[in-house]
Amino acid sequence: MGYVEQQEHGLIQIYGGRNLSGSVRVQGSKNASLPLMAASILIAGKSEFENCPFITDIFYMKKLLRSIGCSVTEEEKDTELGIIQKLQIQSEHVYDSRLPGEYVDKMRSSLILLGPLLARKGEAHMRFPGGCSIGKRPIDYHIEIMRALGAEVTLTDTDIHASCSHLTGANIHLPMASVGATENALLAATLAKGATVIENAAKEPEIMVLCDYLQKAGAKIALQEIDHMLTIKVWGVEQLHEVAYRIPADRIVTGTYLFGCVAAGGEIVLQGVIPSHMERTIQIAEQMGAECIRKKRDGQEYDLWVRMQKRPYAIPYLETAVFPGFPTDMQSSFMVAAALAKGKSRLYERIFENRYQIVEELQRMGAKIQLTKTKQGVCAEVEGVEQLQGCNTLAHELRGGASLVIAGIAAQGITTVGNTYFIDRGYENIGRDLNRLGACINATVSNNRT
Ligand code: EPU
Repeated sequence: MGYVEQQEHGLIQIYGGRNLSGSVRVQGSKNASLPLMAASILIAGKSEFENCPFITDIFYMKKLLRSIGCSVTEEEKDTELGIIQKLQIQSEHVYDSRLPGEYVDKMRSSLILLGPLLARKGEAHMRFPGGCSIGKRPIDYHIEIMRALGAEVTLTDTDIHASCSHLTGANIHLPMASVGATENALLAATLAKGATVIENAAKEPEIMVLCDYLQKAGAKIALQEIDHMLTIKVWGVEQLHEVAYRIPADRIVTGTYLFGCVAAGGEIVLQGVIPSHMERTIQIAEQMGAECIRKKRDGQEYDLWVRMQKRPYAIPYLETAVFPGFPTDMQSSFMVAAALAKGKSRLYERIFENRYQIVEELQRMGAKIQLTKTKQGVCAEVEGVEQLQGCNTLAHELRGGASLVIAGIAAQGITTVGNTYFIDRGYENIGRDLNRLGACINATVSNNRT
């Protein structure tokens, strides 16, 4: 791809070889915001979300909601820690149940509109969802959930069509604790007739946030964990009421900047974060040699002070897992720090089968990484080197793209990251944030305030 095309798809230039230093407020969470916005369809009134990030996935979700009749307005609010976005969604008149393909194609999360649309309109029609190509990402659990709740679902090669006279509570057992499927089940069950039991539900913080939001809006939900397995029980209610909610800080963005500091060294403060959403990530950073101190701010929010003054230690064994394990979304940022560590790290990706797309790019920067197929899945063996060398790289997906930016900070010389539109899907302005943390980054194209 030529330089001009790269610019159209977004290009970031990083002058590397510096330690990080400074503080930054961490943006609101993408993966918490999207299901809450979907939940607003269930409320025939106003929903208000504070601290919603300025990212393209939120922009597409706004487009999808507007396309079915919701009115979405945004307001910028100046706070002690910077400008945050407040969204107001008015869902009094949801007149359409057909989602436009051009936005559905853009992100996986369009799928979580299936449950709320069925609950509200008795019908939903959409194309198969798009999103980052990090694995096969089937949608079978979502479809089976809607069928279990009484919907008739037909699938063609390209489209999903679902309809029902009403949804009825059911017993659902998820073969894997899928985040999106748990969200869709919760959203569909909230207004269903009778009780729904979701066994082996996901435990990610975003699920807890969605339950909390729905409960505040009047949903009847109880959670019970036995032997690490979470069961969620939902007693359907007739209607929900208007509610205002604050989106928590993004635990993955926090982790990206944290591993940026582990890789490049330095001393930074990540403001307004929620350590309980990311204990395993902090623990791994500490095992690699980072000092991490949590200083309480308001409510659940903390400032996370991080100091890294040595070459990182390797982590001999790490696997990605569902919460509270090490998140798959964090794996590529960890790999950047491991690439510079003293010794050999071994990483097993257990959630998505195609999440090692950053490896080739890091290898071109001088990283020694070998992928080996094992019985437990593909293992990345990372033999740490003393230095990475800047070069021209390309983002292939959201988290890997952001991780290349932190690799560029830690590397010697200049690194470019092309295709940064992938990064804009989840990071408000990675260049701005990391420059506040002492990096030297030039973003040629950034379209975060869409
Ligand atoms: N799965 C199925 N069938 C289904 C649904 C899932 O087999 O119908 C499998 C998946 O293939 C995967 C596993 O279940 O192997 C777990 O996937 P999950 O459904 O939990 O993932 P998701 O809901 O599609 C969310 C996040 C991802 C994050 C994963 C895992 C959002 C919008 N996305 O995806 O975030 O990696 O959970 O924690 O919440 C990102 O933000 O970059 C991102 C990809």
